[in-house]
Amino acid sequence: MKKVLVTGGAGFIGSSFVLMLRKNRKYGVVNLDCLNYASNLMNLESLEGDPHYHFIKGGIEDAAVVRSVLERHRPAGVVNFAAETHVDRSIDSPDGFIRTNVMGTFQLLEETRLYLEKLPAAERDEFRFLHVSTDEVYGTLGPGDPAFTEKTRFAPNSPYAASKAASDHLVRAYHHTYGFPVLTTNCSNNYGPMQFPEKLIPLMVLNAMEGKALPVYGDGSNIRDWLYVEDHCEAIELVLEKGRVGETYNIGGRCERANLDIVTAICNCLDEILPGSPFRPHRSLIEFVKDRPGHDWRYAIDCSKIEAELGWRPRETLETGLLKTVKWYLNNRKWVESIKSGEYKQWIERQYGARV
Ligand code: TYD
Repeated sequence: MKKVLVTGGAGFIGSSFVLMLRKNRKYGVVNLDCLNYASNLMNLESLEGDPHYHFIKGGIEDAAVVRSVLERHRPAGVVNFAAETHVDRSIDSPDGFIRTNVMGTFQLLEETRLYLEKLPAAERDEFRFLHVSTDEVYGTLGPGDPAFTEKTRFAPNSPYAASKAASDHLVRAYHHTYGFPVLTTNCSNNYGPMQFPEKLIPLMVLNAMEGKALPVYGDGSNIRDWLYVEDHCEAIELVLEKGRVGETYNIGGRCERANLDIVTAICNCLDEILPGSPFRPHRSLIEFVKDRPGHDWRYAIDCSKIEAELGWRPRETLETGLLKTVKWYLNNRKWVESIKSGEYKQWIERQYGARV
């Protein structure tokens, strides 16, 4: 069975991808994850005892670890999810974003390039390095602007977005200079089960369930394009198998919504699922708080390239995806409790204490 090295496979999107690959039984998986605050091995408990799944603790910026994993497991491809991803954290302390997203991607590229040089030509020809990135590299849109295409000029606005843009450039340069077999995907905002509750949707679901304030930045008019995580993972697998080397593919949910509409939809969902909740109507918990500095107003992805070339379409609508997500958080209290200790508590106090 072909093996894929998945980096950051204990994070939100990475673990969904690992679970999908193992469910389909087409690929073995080697998961390299540094186990930072947003990683969670509980996500992967169902793989215990799976002989085609291996976990290794380590960061992509650690060249020696990357080298030994590549040499020992001899994967047929790398899918790079490992990244710091939260904009507010990148505003609070950008250095970790440069370390992981820029230096880490560089080390991973460089070690993989050296590994490839030693492979027989047939294996080298089939090898792929897929880099998972974000629509935030393209900057922000106004109300009438066309959605981001793969040709939109990079204009990253946050330290997070700039670090991902830098990594995308490195990936591109490795293809141009060394003929390294890369693929890049730029996705819109993901949501779904197992997302760390610093991001909008899980934060609002958990706060609303517990009757806590729902902190909407600014006036809540900022727009994001929402993509259900399993739809995203299917798109990545398709790009890995059928994408053209050196190309970028934008992946979006064709689902633009204002933040206030998302939060209201979550509240309505909870009102329906929890008719006995003392916090109904949950929308009364909404509070408008101080805006994020440099807050991008709108993101929208034009995903016509992946649709036309690879036949991909998102399966979930926001309504079906949100319902699945809310139910998952309601039914997985053990997971929720496991992350609500030390680091998460401190972040929430630091981030929202000064805002409200
Ligand atoms: P987020 O989930 O942090 O993703 P990103 O900033 O990468 O798009 O935020 C999504 C949107 O929700 C963004 O416009 C900021 C807003 N937001 C809030 O209004 N309140 C919050 O508590 C959070 C975390 C985000």
